[in-house]
Amino acid sequence: MTDQYAQATAAAEYIRSRAALAPTLGIILGSGLGNFASMVEQATTISYADIPHFPQSTVQGHSGKLVLGTIAGIGVAVMQGRVHAYEGYSMEQVTFPTRVLSLLGVRRLIVTNAAGGINPRYGQGAIVAISDHINLTGTNAALGLNEPRFAAIPGAGQRFFDMSAAYSPTLRKLAITEAARQGWMLNEGVYIAVLGPSYETPAEIRAFRTLGADLVGMSTVHEVIVARHMGLEVLGLSVVTNMAAGVLDEPIHHEEVMEIGRRIEGQFTRLLAAIIPQIAAA
Ligand code: 6GU
Repeated sequence: MTDQYAQATAAAEYIRSRAALAPTLGIILGSGLGNFASMVEQATTISYADIPHFPQSTVQGHSGKLVLGTIAGIGVAVMQGRVHAYEGYSMEQVTFPTRVLSLLGVRRLIVTNAAGGINPRYGQGAIVAISDHINLTGTNAALGLNEPRFAAIPGAGQRFFDMSAAYSPTLRKLAITEAARQGWMLNEGVYIAVLGPSYETPAEIRAFRTLGADLVGMSTVHEVIVARHMGLEVLGLSVVTNMAAGVLDEPIHHEEVMEIGRRIEGQFTRLLAAIIPQIAAA
């Protein structure tokens, strides 16, 4: 066991030495969604490679930069790219950036990802608000000795912690209302997380549908678990880059994931830009 708290503190200190601004909102950008970081004003961009103990992404489409600055006057820390358990990273490494964001002062977190659509009502390119998750990765992000010093608010940082409103109903409603105002429907859905890196078989997808899942992916749940351990409020947004195996009679390609990210970039950016000041005020 490494001392994740000491390492996260060292990482946060390094980041503070590079950027004076204290972020209150964290944003983790998933595959193909990294361009949103260009919205950040007065930006300080720090390569993950320069931050002590920060894990490096090995996946195409994840650039590995932390961008600190403001959006609509709100202090933000935007992670352009994340690391995944399927890359061989431990739970401590996968959740390390989320721990660091909290130590920097982040109290609300927007987690985004590219996901496969299980619910046939979704089309390719749909943006979905995550209402809940099913963690089928076979592990848990809060594994190991409990570290109460990670508590971001009084009462957080417990060994056992509630996950019944892991995805904030308030933040979700706010996003749904804003999408409607912009003229489109933001659906809600349950995200099921698997380890990967293989995509699922059609039989697995049929099983997941029976379990109540609408979306499938290989990220997010670990970050959300540690965010809830620390007491952060979470908004989760998935972009359906492709339908899951067997939903359509087509194979799945990672290139498609990247291509759809680019296609919905405008819509995704407009939604996020509009909700950031509302989230900060909520
Ligand atoms: Cl179909 N499955 C998983 N696990 N992750 C994905 C995906 C599918 N499509 C995008 N990401």
